Amino acid sequence: MTVFNFSAGPAVLPVPVLLKAQSELLNYRGSGQSVLELSHRSVLFETILNETESLLRELLEVPDDYHVLFLQGGATLQFSMLPLNLATNRHLIDFIDTGSWSQKAIQDAQAYATTRIIASSASDGYRSIPTEPVTSDADYLHITWNNTLEGTTYTHVPQVNVPLVADFSSSILSEPIDISQFDLIYAGAQKNLGSAGMTLVIIKNDLLQRTPALLGSYLRYDTHATHHSLYNTPPTYSIYLTKLVLEWIKEQGFETVVQRNRRQAATLYTYLDQSTLFSNAVAITDRSRMNIPFSTGQADLDEQFLKFAERNQLVNLKGHRSVGGMRASLYNAMPTSGVDALLDALHRFEQGER
Ligand SMILES: Cc1ncc(COP(=O)(O)O)c(C=O)c1O
Repeated sequence: MTVFNFSAGPAVLPVPVLLKAQSELLNYRGSGQSVLELSHRSVLFETILNETESLLRELLEVPDDYHVLFLQGGATLQFSMLPLNLATNRHLIDFIDTGSWSQKAIQDAQAYATTRIIASSASDGYRSIPTEPVTSDADYLHITWNNTLEGTTYTHVPQVNVPLVADFSSSILSEPIDISQFDLIYAGAQKNLGSAGMTLVIIKNDLLQRTPALLGSYLRYDTHATHHSLYNTPPTYSIYLTKLVLEWIKEQGFETVVQRNRRQAATLYTYLDQSTLFSNAVAITDRSRMNIPFSTGQADLDEQFLKFAERNQLVNLKGHRSVGGMRASLYNAMPTSGVDALLDALHRFEQGER
């Protein structure tokens, strides 16, 4: 059965990527071994790792003075690694609070440093991104670029005189990023990059000096930078899947993917804005192109729509329990036919079909 999967993550993967992984599963490039079985010290795997890194550097135009690291532990481990490595001078971290994932990052950082919220969109229920200018004298400023639950995204990079750290988990590679404006960005792979298990960290070289002497080897960014993500066994298959995803993006051209994302999100927002049943409550300028929450405003009707959607092969549209309603995640791998099918279901439901 074919379905369209609107999950926020782990999420839809491109069909050509899954087919390629399938065709290479049992015998990778004539080695007689699966990628799952390759030693991480083998030439074959080191080639996969190097190709993944160079494709990422090419597509995201990563400047030469940044390291690209492939780690484990999800974006969540970064909530601890960041303060442990970087909050080493003033032991003070500034945050812009834009919702649930910002709060999770703040909560973990509190175990290691003093945290301060220098701007927040709490007062409007996290339906926007704070725009007022901010200043910071902390060890770094942390922001959550795309807010997966609330459906908001930054469109401007906050300008501060301290290192800027950003969680790009739910929008990495959906649009170009000017990496030089950040000092560290990170993202779990299970939305736009591949499968769960790998976390991407792009870190400016000079931040590596901040790590204190007394910190366990896995938790240190400098360990992974020195050992080229091969200090211990990396998430080999997840890295391989990311390589396939990056090849898929490169084949079409990154700009084609970016334009498709823009078009698909715009089509859904246009529908929601003219609908008399469904609506999206996010400030228009701050709307995410990746995660689009919407609702009828009535819990029982939302529930009916979710069942209707499932009967029409549209799955994982339920909004996060803290937000309610529905959420359509339109990551890079969501085909236009999936968005068309969703629009068709929304329209038919609005016309009274159940
Ligand atoms: C913005 C953001 N940050 C962090 C996380 C946590 O990621 P992980 O489950 O990989 O630790 C998520 C997961 O959905 C997310 O959307």
